[in-house]
Amino acid sequence: MTATLEVSHLSKTYGSGDEAVHAVCDVSFTIHSGEFAAIVGPSGSGKTTLLAMLGGLLRPSAGSILVNGREIGALTGGEAAAYRRESVGYVFQANNLVSYLTGRENLLLIQFIAGGSRKDATRRAAQLLEELGLTKRADALVTQLSGGERQRVAIGRALMNDPQLVLVDEPTASLDSIRGRQVVQSLIDEVKGRGKLGIMVTHDPAMAALADRVLELHDGELQGVTNGGGA
Ligand SMILES: Nc1ncnc2c1ncn2[C@@H]1O[C@H](COP(=O)(O)OP(=O)(O)O)[C@@H](O)[C@H]1O
Ligand SMILES: [Mg+2]
Repeated sequence: MTATLEVSHLSKTYGSGDEAVHAVCDVSFTIHSGEFAAIVGPSGSGKTTLLAMLGGLLRPSAGSILVNGREIGALTGGEAAAYRRESVGYVFQANNLVSYLTGRENLLLIQFIAGGSRKDATRRAAQLLEELGLTKRADALVTQLSGGERQRVAIGRALMNDPQLVLVDEPTASLDSIRGRQVVQSLIDEVKGRGKLGIMVTHDPAMAALADRVLELHDGELQGVTNGGGA
């Protein structure tokens, strides 16, 4: 299934009065499935806040987020939980894997939460692990994996529910650039090969250059949208 994400005049303010922080201010853009966008900008420019709103983790203060025409910013708690479970794959800055399980078990946990056939989940986990080059390491405990392997497991886990939107917050913070690029390239291949829509926050221009489009944030405002090297 294809997806379109339309963001218009989106804002988020934390706190109020003198304490107010305008983390995201009047941001608008549109992305379609098969596209991979990068969000760049200095620390504190609102990247994580923007991503969290798109993922249904944080309510906008103003503006609209349409996913296939459906308003995401106005969902109730239960509806937002269903949206996250069914439509979103999220890779957090800290990968949040369950460290006393194996990589494969971290993927299968998603099937346990979302329901569905165990057989299908087992097959899907094996396929994702293969595509991410993790087959040989899939049954090692997370504590025994390298930083790059953990991030690939986190990407595989985010893809387990076959999400329309794949949202990634600074995936390569702990990696050197060659390993980091490989991880990001395998993520982009997954997103594009499966007709999904991907958005990755990064502070690394070399990573952003792999994307189709680059959205640049400064002090919460979208300064520009340029084509990346992947376009
Ligand atoms: N929960 C919060 N409460 C108050 N201010 C916040 C909160 N989260 C982030 N901020 C502030 O919002 C701004 C944007 O933060 P963030 O979205 O994390 O930026 P980035 O991911 O680009 O570093 C920063 O000034 C940050 O201090
Ligand atoms: Mg951040």
